[in-house]
Amino acid sequence: MYFDVTYSINPWMDPDRPTSTQTGLAQWKGLFDTFVDLGHDVQLIEPVPGLPDMVFAANGAIVVDGKVLVARFRHPQRRDESAAYEEWFRLNGWSTVQQAEYVNEGEGDFLFTGEEFLAGTGFRSESRAHDEVREFFGRPVTSLTLVDPRFYHLDTALAVLGDGEIMYNPVAFSPQSRAVLAERFPDAILAEDADAAVFGLNALSDGRNVVLPRKAAGLAAQLRERGYHPIGADLTELLKAGGSVKCCTLELRE
Ligand code: ARG
Repeated sequence: MYFDVTYSINPWMDPDRPTSTQTGLAQWKGLFDTFVDLGHDVQLIEPVPGLPDMVFAANGAIVVDGKVLVARFRHPQRRDESAAYEEWFRLNGWSTVQQAEYVNEGEGDFLFTGEEFLAGTGFRSESRAHDEVREFFGRPVTSLTLVDPRFYHLDTALAVLGDGEIMYNPVAFSPQSRAVLAERFPDAILAEDADAAVFGLNALSDGRNVVLPRKAAGLAAQLRERGYHPIGADLTELLKAGGSVKCCTLELRE
């Protein structure tokens, strides 16, 4: 892994602040071990020198029903990641692989509920990409607008827990999107500022176990009350680039 903060494309990234690739790698390894312990089949992609954000695999593509829509990144610093992901999917036997036409930062902005997509726009993915995803996968897409630059990808502001349940940070969304979420998910877990600020919503759930940043103690308590099993992960070094648990993870749905 070539993780580093050498440019700034979100408010978390400060290239003048020291970042340790080694610490980032050790923390990433901790997350990998957690997923393996949970019984997930974890596949890896070879890192590419000069692409320090490539550790955030969530952004590489959207993979649902065995179909792969490869990301198109907004910022030039990340654009070369697309080719690496496209090649990985072709070499690993995925037959329906297409490069997105519109700016589309993969699972960073497109969260699959099991039936449909919740899609973010406002900072990275364009709303035209929402239409492209609807057509490519043939599934409904609900568009949500992000308004707080700290929560620039949908997966930094909302997590799908399973069974129609989600958790989210209301202040990250426009008033209209907040109303859509409140209507669609009246029983959602709402994150407090303190938990959102440590990227507590950047979590991965298998329907029971929810891996989330360790510092999000309030969210962990709320999850426990609902019968989930929260598992804390320490990814503080990666947070210097504006990423955590979910950002590091691209789900491969056959
Ligand atoms: N530095 C990366 C960026 O700004 C972090 C990406 C985090 N990934 C995510 N799925 N939220 O693009």
